[in-house]
Amino acid sequence: MEPTRDQAWDTLTRYTKSEALLRHALAVEAAVRWYARFYGEDEERWGVVALLHDFDYEIHPTLDQHPQDGAPILREEGYPEDVIEGVLSHADHLQLPRDTQLKTTLFACDELAGFIHACGLVRPDGIDTLEPKSVRKKLKQPSFAAGVHRDEVYAGAEGLGLDLDQHIANVIEAMRPIAPRLGLRTAADVGAA
Ligand SMILES: [Fe+2]
Ligand SMILES: [Fe+2]
Repeated sequence: MEPTRDQAWDTLTRYTKSEALLRHALAVEAAVRWYARFYGEDEERWGVVALLHDFDYEIHPTLDQHPQDGAPILREEGYPEDVIEGVLSHADHLQLPRDTQLKTTLFACDELAGFIHACGLVRPDGIDTLEPKSVRKKLKQPSFAAGVHRDEVYAGAEGLGLDLDQHIANVIEAMRPIAPRLGLRTAADVGAA
């Protein structure tokens, strides 16, 4: 079976009701799809893996269950093994090899997308004029978005072989078109305020 985005969205929304988690899935999906286009890879397949990567987090909120206990559910729903493997690979505690470009990319986008989202929430125009430099500055403030693992952000860019600023710029660009769906303000809101 070739999984489609619709199917992944259906699975995700059956297990995930929290708007924050859905936004996270959409942000990571946008970033991973951006990289799929960048590398000339299968955008639909990459997007499916990204959408699903935390699909079970609401029902399995601890690391002794997430994401490993989600895998049998995905298998039952008919997702191919490469999708399931991709989903499992994002979890550092499972220590699975990130031996494909998709796995490296998913890992690199997961924490960073969340961090960029947090940066956008405190700006009047969201991420419209957000620059890598100010994201980097915020990364150095431990109290800002304290839940984001900085070491994973740095390791992610390194895994991609990209300069951190470039990686940040790419993920911002990827997220901009869906900023309103992510609950972020845009430049248009500034004039209206
Ligand atoms: Fe996760
Ligand atoms: Fe995630």
